[in-house]
Amino acid sequence: MARPRVYVTRIIPQAGLDMVSELCEAEVWQGETPPPREVLLDKVKGVQGLLSLLTDPIDATVMDTAGPQLRVIANYAVGYDNVDVAAATERGILVTNTPGVLTETTADFAFALLLAAARRVVEGMDYIRAGKWRSWGPVLLLGHDVQRATLGIIGLGRIGSGMAKRAQGFDMRVLTYDPHFSEERGKALGARCVDLDTLLAESDFVTVHVPLTPETHHMLGAEQFRKMKPSAILINTARGPVVDPDALYDALEHGDIAYAALDVTEPEPLPADHKLLALSNVIICPHMASASVATRTKMATMATENLIAVLKGEIPPNLVNPEALNRRTARKGRL
Ligand code: DGY
Repeated sequence: MARPRVYVTRIIPQAGLDMVSELCEAEVWQGETPPPREVLLDKVKGVQGLLSLLTDPIDATVMDTAGPQLRVIANYAVGYDNVDVAAATERGILVTNTPGVLTETTADFAFALLLAAARRVVEGMDYIRAGKWRSWGPVLLLGHDVQRATLGIIGLGRIGSGMAKRAQGFDMRVLTYDPHFSEERGKALGARCVDLDTLLAESDFVTVHVPLTPETHHMLGAEQFRKMKPSAILINTARGPVVDPDALYDALEHGDIAYAALDVTEPEPLPADHKLLALSNVIICPHMASASVATRTKMATMATENLIAVLKGEIPPNLVNPEALNRRTARKGRL
């Protein structure tokens, strides 16, 4: 039987690539940046499976250019805002993601950003590099305590919950806003569920853990920054466009809030001459919160298992759009 054709949009950890090439006729884009749109459109023609990254916009045009034999889009990420899931469902294409495996690694990094911003770690390094370190100083690079401070968690899913757990170790008071989860879930994590305005007004640290959807796009903007403490620190490891970057710049510049530590930005990548980078009260990292060897390897095997399951006619372990199953079986009589 002919091996299914798949296109992999970037080199992923070897464990995943080995699994794909064992079963499939796989082509892997070798570039360090995403395949250009015209390359993607050319390479997907005739494939049955697509292993995509969060950097690849997979819309109806990509799906239709691929053709009706396309069965699965296996996204190498927990977030799948880069995929037009409704368009995939309509076409009976199964979409999968990699939930769970990156929870702790991402929460570790979000907490690292929180600590680094609070205690001005990056500024300390810059200070030494600039040759300014002459002596220990009583008021040199004073930051803010994390222990016993108030942490506001927007989004109490897996990673937000991971932040709540970490906060307990620092004796923090934890507030959370998430209309999708019950108060019981908050209580179990030692967090008080509040409305967004209360969270913004009372938190010393505000950390964002919501997916990017039309509802969460720019959910933090000028109005929200004005409600925060002038000493507040914002941490975003979710998706850049959840925060309005122009409003954030103004808030940091005018002292509405004190500091921002971002792993995700809008746009991404952030150009080196972006105005946010000219501020001293920001830390910005290149979307690396899940970047540990173990986690990225697990993401590769998980994305591949999803891809292969569909190509074998099985229901994949991490299906995002179960509604597509009915469409697919109604159309094709099989998965
Ligand atoms: C994801 O998987 O959505 C993360 O943003 C990757 O770091």
